[in-house]
Amino acid sequence: MSGNGVSSAPARPGRVQRPPGPGLFEELPRSPANDRRFFEKLLEIHRRFGEVTWVGPPGLRRYGVAHPDDVQHVLLDNARNYDKGCFEYASLRLVLGGGLVTSDGEHWRRQRKLAAPAFTPRSVAGFAEAMVAATEELLERWQPRAGSGRAFDLVPEMMGVALRIVGDALFGFDTAGIRERIAPAIARCLYCTMARTPLSPPLGVPTPGNVRFRNAIRTLHEIVDAIVAERRRSTAEHVDLLAMLMAARDEETGEGMSDVQIRDEVLTLLVAGHETTATALSWTFFLLSRHPDVRRRLEEEVDGVLAGGPPGAEDAKRLPWTRQVIDESMRLFPPVWGIARAAKEGDVLGGYEVPPGSVVYLSPYATHRHPDFWSNPEGFDPERFAPEAVAARHRFAYFPFAGGPRVCIGNNLALLEAVLILAMVSRRYRVDLVPGHPVEPQAVITTRPRHGIQVTLAKR
Ligand code: HEM
Repeated sequence: MSGNGVSSAPARPGRVQRPPGPGLFEELPRSPANDRRFFEKLLEIHRRFGEVTWVGPPGLRRYGVAHPDDVQHVLLDNARNYDKGCFEYASLRLVLGGGLVTSDGEHWRRQRKLAAPAFTPRSVAGFAEAMVAATEELLERWQPRAGSGRAFDLVPEMMGVALRIVGDALFGFDTAGIRERIAPAIARCLYCTMARTPLSPPLGVPTPGNVRFRNAIRTLHEIVDAIVAERRRSTAEHVDLLAMLMAARDEETGEGMSDVQIRDEVLTLLVAGHETTATALSWTFFLLSRHPDVRRRLEEEVDGVLAGGPPGAEDAKRLPWTRQVIDESMRLFPPVWGIARAAKEGDVLGGYEVPPGSVVYLSPYATHRHPDFWSNPEGFDPERFAPEAVAARHRFAYFPFAGGPRVCIGNNLALLEAVLILAMVSRRYRVDLVPGHPVEPQAVITTRPRHGIQVTLAKR
């Protein structure tokens, strides 16, 4: 990150074989999840070495990219040259199999087309009722805690409400019975996936780490198999994504999806559909607790809009500050902090040659703090997301949902859900961080708060 306003990848002259960089072994640890300084180092690498950096290890072509031009090039302009054929997604495939997040090529295209109708603006608006019902249940459950001074961790609470919504909305499934089992299994899988390196023993080798990982994967598979089995037994008519997946037939062969394919898709959507949104909400409440002025303005907005009762999908449009708060929170703590892509053919990024087979790392965390695009990058300021400010900015300076053909399929759902939950909670309670509780991001696949977020509740 130059900080000098110069840029645009293709325009930079002076191609060289390899960009400068620390090499993975010098600067970055084996597992980002275990490194308390990982995010600091990520920013430091771009400060020291520039927009495109080589992150080794020797012999491997791995590049970290920070400039929005380069992000746009990889995700959108030359997206057809980049796929998920790299080690990082192979690790994730151990958990999610060949679902939408991890698949590529024709299989991905077919599955994306199949799932798309569940995520149109109209379908998403239809989920508002499930979102409001899940949040009302949360507010009632929180009632005895309000004003009691009793501290609790906000993260599992947000995970629970987001899981219930995705279960209800997409699969017509009540997740109350699985919450206790699924949360530790997902946390374990995220950690183990992140901890794997190209040198890790295959999953079949019974090291203690592999055994824990396999047990967690088995738990997730059992949970999802039970959801699908319950549906197969049901005689009622269902109109949801699960019904669509189960009814899908290949245009040419007429064959349906196998049980494993259905499981992979359901598990993918169940995990991707709640972990990220819950993480975003957890960081948002933390930031609001640190910024009383921003919170006061949010409370004024929600008091005005929600005065007549619980909100609907249309009300979300009348909560612009609430939305800007969420946007700014995901700038500082993007729920997905890094995205990897493998170059199929040679390319040029930031003036450097990228040979075929290279892995390119994009990081919303780094780009969202790029000093050429964000003044006072560490400051929390939702005004940055006022419509005129957004229109004036590079469109890939901010990409919490990635972009291009593989943009997050659930982005509209996530934003509606986050706005409704934040508004409803803020109308009724004030969420305060417990003084002295250490809050720091941990780089698992999502940007989880390493020690949770301990809070108390006050009734408003
Ligand atoms: C704040 C919440 C969310 C954030 C920040 C987020 C972020 C992302 C990002 C960065 C990607 C691209 C990953 C990559 O290319 O490696 C992605 C993909 C995906 N997300 Fe989300 N997501 C969120 C919510 C959701 C929700 C609610 C759902 C579903 C209910 C969902 C389902 C998916 C799926 C299926 C993909 C793969 C899409 C494809 O490649 O076709 N996400 N998400």
